[in-house]
Amino acid sequence: SAAEKGGHEYFMLKEIDEQPEALANTLRGHFEAGRIILDEQRISDQDLRDVDKVFVVACGSAYHSGLVAKYAIEHWCRLPVEVELASEFRYRDPVLDRDTLVVAVSQSGETADTLEAVRHAREQKARVLAVCNTNGAQIPRESDAVLYTHAGPEIGVASTKAFLAQIAANYLVGLALAQARGTKYPDEVAREFGELEAMPAAVQKVLSTVEQTRELGRRIADSRAVLFLGRHVGFPVALEGALKLKELAYMHAEGFAAGELKHGPIALIEEGLPVVVVMPSPKGRAVLHSKLVSNISEIQARGARTIVIAEEGDETVRPFADELIEVPAVPTLLQPLVSTVPLQVLAAEIARSRGYDVDKPRNLAKSVTVE
Ligand code: G6P
Repeated sequence: SAAEKGGHEYFMLKEIDEQPEALANTLRGHFEAGRIILDEQRISDQDLRDVDKVFVVACGSAYHSGLVAKYAIEHWCRLPVEVELASEFRYRDPVLDRDTLVVAVSQSGETADTLEAVRHAREQKARVLAVCNTNGAQIPRESDAVLYTHAGPEIGVASTKAFLAQIAANYLVGLALAQARGTKYPDEVAREFGELEAMPAAVQKVLSTVEQTRELGRRIADSRAVLFLGRHVGFPVALEGALKLKELAYMHAEGFAAGELKHGPIALIEEGLPVVVVMPSPKGRAVLHSKLVSNISEIQARGARTIVIAEEGDETVRPFADELIEVPAVPTLLQPLVSTVPLQVLAAEIARSRGYDVDKPRNLAKSVTVE
C-alpha cells in the first residue's frame, strides 16, 4: 500500500531515502569503551590477531561492497584481501587454512552460493565472519562471528540501503581487524569511526539534491547503453551503477576500471553515448584525479556524453562534464557511500521513464536460494 511505501511510488525510492538511517543504525553500538565490537564473536581475539589473509565472498551488490572493503582492509590492516564471487570461490580450490578469515556478505543471509562458500571455507578450517541484514539467517548461524547491518527490511529487489550498510559494516570489520592486529592505534580507530559517523549526514545532503539527477535520468532514458567508469574505490561504485541499470532498466550497462579504458572499452565510445564517471576527490590522491580528468577529456573528444559525479567545488572537472552531479567532500575511502546514491537514483528514474516496475524487475528474485 501507499502507506507502507511512506508516500513513495516504490519501496526502492523509500529505501534510497532511508539510507542515512540505515547507516546510523548499522554503526550504532559498535564502538564502545574505545573499541570496535562485533555482534557475535565465537572466535578468539588471538585467532583474529593471527589472521594472515582475508577473502570476501558474496554475490551481486554484496560482492561490490566487498570490492570496496578491499581498499580499506588492505590499507588499514596490511593484510592481503581477495574478493570473490561466492559461486566462483566455491568451485575453485581456494587456498584456505585456520589463519584465513572469510567475510561472507549477504543481505538476506540465505543466498545459496554464499552459504555454500561459507560451508566450504569452514571445512577448510577457515574462520568465517558474516555481514548480514537478517537476524538469525542461515549464513550468520553457520559463521564464527557476525556483524549485522541494520538497514531494516529491504523490499525492493535491487539493493540500495542494504548495500550502503554493507559498506559501513565491512569497514567496521576492517577496523576490528586493524585493532586486533595493532596496525592502527586506538586513537586512529576512534578517528576512523568518527568519520563513518559523519556519513549519514553526508548521504542526507546527497538526497537533498537528487532532483537534478532524476531530470537527467528522464533525458537519457532512451539511450541504448550506458558505460560507467571509476578508479580505486570508484571502480566498484561504477560496477554497482551498471548493475542497478541492468537490473531495473534492462539496459546494456557496463562498469570499467578507468585505467582499462585504453585497453578496450574506449572502442565502444560513440557519438552521444552516456558515460558516467565517478571522480575521486581532487584533495585526495591528486594523481588519481588527474588521470581521470584526462580519461574524461578523451572520451568527450570521441563524442561521449559525459556524466560526472564529482566532489562539490571540483572546478578542474567542470569543462569536461556535459552533466555534473556534485556530492559532498568526504574521506577517500568513504566516497562510495555518497557517490553510489546518485547512481541508484539515476537507474530508478530511467526505469520509471521506461515504464518498468522498479520494485520487481523481471527475472530477478530478492534472495536466490538455489545455486
Ligand atoms: C540477488 C539480489 C541482489 C543481491 C544478491 C545477493 O541477486 O537481486 O540485489 O545483491 O542477490 O543477495 P544477498 O542477500 O546475499 O546480499
